[in-house]
Amino acid sequence: MRAVDLIRRKRDGERLSGEEIAWLIQAYIQEEMPDYQMAALAMAIYFQGLDQEEVTAWTRAMLYSGEVLRFEVPGPVIDKHSTGGVGDKTSLVLAPLCAAAGIFVPMISGRGLGHTGGTLDKLESIPGFDVALSPTRLRTVVARHGMAIVGQTAEIVPADRRLYALRDVTATVDSIPLIASSVMSKKLAEGLDGLVLDVKVGSGAFMGSLERARALAREMVGLGRSMGVDTRVLLTDMDQPLGWAIGNALEVREAVDTLQGRGPADLTALVCELAAEMMHVAGVERDREAGLARAAALMSSGEAFEVFCKAVAAQGGDEATIRDLDRLPRAEKTQAFVARRGGFVRAFKCKEVGLIAMALGAGRQTTEDVIDHGVGLMLHKKRGDAVEAGEALATIHHRGDCDLGEIESRLIDAIEIGDEAPLLGPLVIEVMRP
Ligand code: URA
Repeated sequence: MRAVDLIRRKRDGERLSGEEIAWLIQAYIQEEMPDYQMAALAMAIYFQGLDQEEVTAWTRAMLYSGEVLRFEVPGPVIDKHSTGGVGDKTSLVLAPLCAAAGIFVPMISGRGLGHTGGTLDKLESIPGFDVALSPTRLRTVVARHGMAIVGQTAEIVPADRRLYALRDVTATVDSIPLIASSVMSKKLAEGLDGLVLDVKVGSGAFMGSLERARALAREMVGLGRSMGVDTRVLLTDMDQPLGWAIGNALEVREAVDTLQGRGPADLTALVCELAAEMMHVAGVERDREAGLARAAALMSSGEAFEVFCKAVAAQGGDEATIRDLDRLPRAEKTQAFVARRGGFVRAFKCKEVGLIAMALGAGRQTTEDVIDHGVGLMLHKKRGDAVEAGEALATIHHRGDCDLGEIESRLIDAIEIGDEAPLLGPLVIEVMRP
């Protein structure tokens, strides 16, 4: 086989066989196929797509480019993945909640880049928390505590690591079969029995339009089915930040409050919906209603919180900080950002709100940037809320080293206030099951 012939066939809209796709991915990982040929192939796929059989073969080849985990645990192994949003601290609440319900959750998460925060960065606000567990240690922590949240290792789906970096610089990230195979290969490498995906839609989401979010969701549900893993998708709203907090330690505080039943309504509702779906996939609850009730009970009884404390300690994190949140890192300065006029909060430029938190130091522009865990934004109003002139819309948590005038003028532009209340859509827009 020659890569150039396969690239030409894909460019001309022909199908590639499973064997040909496996050969291409192998040649790429073994560095027999150079980056420029893979870049050309990715561009051909960007324009011509992959059909169901091709995308399955592509995902399978990526998945087996590295280690696939196996868990010997007495219960279902289920994970959740989110396409990322602003203020999305769902994983921190969901993993212990599901673990408390008897599900085993080995969560391999990412770091923040651009406007979205990363679960690993949030957890590293807890002194001592170690996200780099070996596969053996990961298996032990999951078996003992029902959950662990760790970073990607070099052994898991190495093909994606290289291919994603290449797509990033060749304008080929935005291809539905390539996104679906990238996400699903990494998730399936966790050795899962089931998977729930939270695909965000709206101004703060990776997928801006509902149509594209649906197409991605369909592709991933289909891939799950053809790979034998029950995969469900919740399409959820990301037209405004989730919860009140944006910034690492601020989000950990909010996540812990939510675990204890004192969280913001939207975050609590989303966590409960995702938990109910995970419990249904896992077979530990018969339907959504039973799952919702179980999730609420596990939060109010404190069981989910206790699981979180133990799991954090097992990953080296300081349990005392979780029990006394005032020990979390915090910015020494705060400033209220007040409404310039009265009316209703009509809309957020959600991605911009994430970028403002990043400008305060809560995120990184390049992978080398160092994060400040204490800074960020606390919102006080959501879409549809009435607001008076001079009332606080947000509190800026900062170190005194940023241009507050610039931050304020960006916030003025990012939070739209108008005379009429906006129409509000549902938090869970659609659920897709196989
Ligand atoms: N996230 C991923 O993991 N892969 C993609 O291709 C896009 C987003």
